[in-house]
Order: sequence, then structure tokens, then C-alpha cells
Amino acid sequence: MCGIIGYIGEKQAAPILLQGLRKLEYRGYDSAGIVVCNPANPETQVTRFRSVGKIDTLENKVRGQEIVGTMGIAHTRWATHGGVTEENAHPHHDQSGKIFIVHNGIIENYREIKEVLGNGHTYVSQTDSEILAHLIGVHYEQMKKEGSCSDLRRAVEHALHHVRGTYGLVVMHTDYPDCLVAARMGSPLVIGVADGEQYIASDPTPMLAHTKKMVFLDDGEIAEVTRDSVQTFTLLDDRVVKCVEEVEWDEAAAQKQGFPHFMIKEIFDQPVVFEDAIRGRYDLKEGTAFLGGLNMTNDEMRRVKRVILIACGTASYAALVGKYAFERLAGIPTEVDVASEFRYRDPIVDDTTLVFGISQSGETADTIAALREAKRKGAFVRGIVNVVGSTIARETDGGTYIHAGPELAVASTKAYSNMIAILLLYALQFGRLKRVSIATGQRLLAALREIPAKMRLTLERAEEIQAVAEKYAAYKHFFFLGRGINYPVALEGSLKLKEISYIHSEAYPGGEMKHGPIALLSPDFPVFAIMTKNQLYDKMRNNIEETKARGAQVILLATDGDDHARELSDDVLYVPETMELLQPLLNTIPLQLFAYYIAAALGRDVDRPRNLAKSVTVE
Ligand code: G6P
Repeated sequence: MCGIIGYIGEKQAAPILLQGLRKLEYRGYDSAGIVVCNPANPETQVTRFRSVGKIDTLENKVRGQEIVGTMGIAHTRWATHGGVTEENAHPHHDQSGKIFIVHNGIIENYREIKEVLGNGHTYVSQTDSEILAHLIGVHYEQMKKEGSCSDLRRAVEHALHHVRGTYGLVVMHTDYPDCLVAARMGSPLVIGVADGEQYIASDPTPMLAHTKKMVFLDDGEIAEVTRDSVQTFTLLDDRVVKCVEEVEWDEAAAQKQGFPHFMIKEIFDQPVVFEDAIRGRYDLKEGTAFLGGLNMTNDEMRRVKRVILIACGTASYAALVGKYAFERLAGIPTEVDVASEFRYRDPIVDDTTLVFGISQSGETADTIAALREAKRKGAFVRGIVNVVGSTIARETDGGTYIHAGPELAVASTKAYSNMIAILLLYALQFGRLKRVSIATGQRLLAALREIPAKMRLTLERAEEIQAVAEKYAAYKHFFFLGRGINYPVALEGSLKLKEISYIHSEAYPGGEMKHGPIALLSPDFPVFAIMTKNQLYDKMRNNIEETKARGAQVILLATDGDDHARELSDDVLYVPETMELLQPLLNTIPLQLFAYYIAAALGRDVDRPRNLAKSVTVE
């Protein structure tokens, strides 16, 4: 989720790169760096500046310095491997100090690569990216023969054959001031083509001020970029002819990658960031997960008698899904506590209690205070957060980053799914120490790996969901119903709708309707019921019959192939089937889209709804 910008041309590179970084700051902003190549001066052939913090800090550092050179690369970081330090900021270089890279993505097998590279290498950072730079350096030493730019490109190509993971990558060699090499796998990279100069960036935003002509690299492609040409190849060295496309976006649209709002972009980000969340964190053979950040021995894990999940808002609904997973897989009694309540109710915790604080921002004041309280009382306290280096990440004794990348819309979507992913992995990790068999663990992991594809299938139905949403946009009230693991889904669907459309909405477990809320039902109060296949399917059907009998309109979320759903409802939305524990990962998507399309139809300020803030850092 970091941002990349590269430049090769006739102008001074540094101002262009710094301006580009500013435009990319929305993609990540915990540290930044720039390197510029100046072959004319053998003493200062290369100048690199890096700093922790926003681009402002880097600019202050660079101000007044002489950075001469017409080729360079720069990066703004959203940390994945290694903390937020200057050493971990990009650009990184290889052993020779001549090859510099900026990298987005995650190198899954970086430990193996490090082992293969052996002892002769000195690393100054804890990043997977620096190891990649060294790997490229080693291949370059083996390959260089023509003394041309193609040597560098081939070296990158060969190095990438050994890499498992994702990358958007730009490479520069100080001996070749006439070319940059760019490669893509799973992490976008675009080349901006202009007269006598070229730009390379992680999205069109920072290039739009200079050119609208773009070459979009596809996965598995690599480009050799000189001042006057862009040559593209596959990683197997075959030439690929790419079209130069004319982009009509303005800057704001480019940041949203063509989507009208950040929220809808982030909903569509989910399959990709979900893969980032689980990648390299499980062992298929052993049917288990290994989240090293937990920082507990197996004995300590076995001694845990109670798990408490503390969170606010959307994170607390992800936690509710986690409760089902912990209880079912690990057999550990698990509670979910809203942070603002937990912190004041003198909670009973001890050294057999494991407390997770779950937070996208890692800065929510109530969650921080609740975790401090739990720590004071001797519990194991761990974080499940998105923002690297945030207060919760720093104050807990371990935990896991969810790798959802920057979430800019106030209403949380992709962070919710990734929180669930991590909670499932933790539940499995504990479960395998207790009662889960290897086969069950393997089945769960296999199903988890299929989730991104099934998310994509669900997202492909966005137009249908939009049509249903628009049909109901004028209603003033909504009910969301679900049972079992679909109850948290109902809560989250209802929260999304009220947050961004300002429509009154209630969420209840289906079986609870008859104890009061059913009195509200009327033809003006539509019911959105989640009735995907699970243990309580028949009971949920009965609850829906009850609401139908009161004249309410019913929108149903059902499993693909469930034809009964049509008889019971006015409108049906379908989702693919997966294991019951994982079903919320798919079920929530149509609800996110339903809320989004209603809010958009009503002309609401979707990304910045009234009265809400992305990160609530006060009580
Ligand atoms: C605010 C936001 C919600 C979010 C909640 C928890 O209320 O408006 O969207 O779910 O905070 O935020 P966190 O960063 O702790 O996940």
C-alpha cells in the first residue's frame, strides 16, 4: 500500500519526486525516502535522504541540500515488515551500494532468500525489501556482460524468479544513469510517458501533472525505461507490446482509482488486501497458523482460560465473529467487550486471561484505555491493528498487523474483513494446541485461501445489489436480522447503513424479534435478513416467515442455489458458500455495498459522514 514514484528525463529529479510523494501520501505515510543519481560527479554519484514521518519531514531534511541528478526513485511507506524507522524506509540498496530499489508488496519467502544469500551480506534494515535488493545485486554480478541496461533488467528478471509474494518494484543502478527497471506482480505499477522523459509510479496520481499518457504494467511484466523509450517484457524475457493509454482522470479520481468514493474503492480492495492479511501466516501441512507476533510460548497459550476481545464500532463486530471462532476452534470462553464499557467496569482479568485490542487506527482512546486497564491487572495484552507504529501497536506486548493498507473512508470496510482474517488465524493457532485436528485445520485453511476468489465473485454482483439498494433508498427505517455467526454481520450491515446514509436501522438476532422489536414491523419498515446456510438456517426461515406475516418487505441474503429464498422474500441477493465460520467474510460485502449505494443515491457525503471521525482519539 506504499507509494512509488520514479523519474528519468532532462529535468532535475528531486523536486519532481518530492512533489510526487506528496500526491502519494494518501497511500502510506509513516516514512519516506528519495535517491537521485548524478553520474557527472563521481564523488556524489548518488544522494539518498530518508526520514520517519510524513513527507513534510523529508522535505525539511532535503531543504537547502544539493541533490543534483536527472534520474531517481522515491517511496512513501506503509510499513509491513519491520517497524517505522529510518533504516527501514526505502529506497534500499544492495551489497555494492550501487543498486537501489523501491518496493511495494510483501516478499513472502524473504527468510529463505536471506538464508540462500548467506553470511556475506550485511543488512541495515528489518525489511523484506532490502533482501530483495541484495538478491538483485547478486544476480547482477552474475549477469553483467554487455554493460547495458538490459543486463540490469535481466538481473532483476532472474532475481524475481526466486521470489514468492507481491511486488511493484523500481530498480536503479548508479552505473546506468540512462535507465530504470520496473516490474509488477500483484502490486500496481504505471509508466507515464512524455517527451524525452518518463515517470513510473504506483498509480497515475503523481504523474497527472506531467502527462496523461500511461502504460499500465500487468502482473508478471517488467519494463526497461530510458529517457526516450519504454520496452516491456515478460519475466521469461519475451517482448510484450503494450498500448499507451490516455488517462482522463483528474487527481482526486486517480487516488480513488476511478471509483467515485474511497469507500467503494476500499470495498473492492478486499480480495487483494485479504490475501495480504493471510499471506505467509499459516502452515498448510500442519493445518495451523503461526502469528509470531503473539509472543507467547505454547505453554502460556495452553494456560489461557479466557479470551477478551476489546474494540469499538466496526472492530467490535469483527470481534464478535472472532468470538465464535475462538469458542468453536479453541474451546476457550471468549467475550467481546466494547472498550468504553470495559474500561470502567472493574473487569475481572488475571494472568490466565488473554486480551486482544482490535482497532484499525490503533489510536482509539477508549480501546487504548481499556487495554491499559487489562495490562494493569496482569492479563496478556495483544493488539490486532492496521496502522503500523500506532499507540496500540506500541503499548501491547505483541500482536499482529492486519495489512489492510490505508483506509481513508470513515466507514470501515476492508479493515473489518482483515480483522476477521487475523482472528480466525489466531483461533486456529490456539485450536491446534488444543482440540482441532490436522485435517480440520487444513480444511479451514483451504477454505480461507478460497475467500479472495469468492469475494471477487460477490463483488461482481455489485450492479444487482445497487439496483436493490436504489429500490429501497427512500425508506426511513430498516431492520437487519441474522442468527449465529450471521448476527454480527447484521450488526455491521446496520451500522454501515446508519453511518453513511443516516437512515434509522436496528439489528437483532432473528430469535429476539418476538420479544419486542416485532411491534415495529409494518410495510414501511423493510427487513434485511441474512439467511445463508448454517446450523440455524431453519430457525432463521421461521423468523422470516414471522416478519413476512406482519406485512414487512423482506430482502434476503442467501447462499447460491437456495431457491426457497425467492419464495420467502421480495428481493434476494446471493453469495457463494464457504465454511460457516468464514461466511461473514462474504456476507458482509453485499451489506457494505447496500449501505454504500443507498447513501450514494441519497447524495450523502459517503467518505466523510456527518458527526463521525475516522479515528476517535478522545473519550
Ligand atoms: C470510529 C469510526 C468507526 C470505527 C471506530 C473504531 O467510531 O467512525 O468506523 O469502527 O472508530 O475505530 P478503530 O480505529 O479503533 O478500529
